[in-house]
Amino acid sequence: MVVSLLGLPVQSFTANAFTTGATASNILALSIGREHTISRVQRARGAFDWSVSDNGFGGVEIEVFCAGAHSSVAKSASLVGIGRRNVFDIATTQDDQPCAFDLGVLEERLKANVGKKGSIVVSSFGEVNTGGFTPDTEIIRALCDKYDAWLHIDAGMSSSLVNPDL
Ligand SMILES: Cc1ncc(COP(=O)(O)O)c(C=O)c1O
Repeated sequence: MVVSLLGLPVQSFTANAFTTGATASNILALSIGREHTISRVQRARGAFDWSVSDNGFGGVEIEVFCAGAHSSVAKSASLVGIGRRNVFDIATTQDDQPCAFDLGVLEERLKANVGKKGSIVVSSFGEVNTGGFTPDTEIIRALCDKYDAWLHIDAGMSSSLVNPDL
């Protein structure tokens, strides 16, 4: 119904959720990522069908990696039990690319977490204070697949530009 009311193409919205805003989207995304990544670590430890909703974190920490992300990402991490201190900004120092990841550091951190800690990566597509866009999304997607991390694209200001296949 929301899709029709907004005059958007219904066929393009088959499994989507509307939230009240971009902070709410980040809270939802980190909650979903939390389920995914904790269950992967628990599986590596021999616990199958682990669910955070049923069992909690089970002693597994989560790290969130971002680059020049909006402050609501850290706020969301605090709300879903990940903790602000587990949010790491690993942006490069390029002034013209405030949301670009240092891909070498990202890979090292993701690799180090496999089977030990959960990993969530947050890319930014249009951060309101800097206008930054995270480049290299396909490389980041591949790294997340390789190291069992969850990828969230915070497109609070540009959701219509995001390719749903990523
Ligand atoms: C990239 C990004 N994410 C999240 C937010 C938070 O948005 P809101 O204030 O609608 O919750 C903003 C704010 O503009 C933003 O630029």
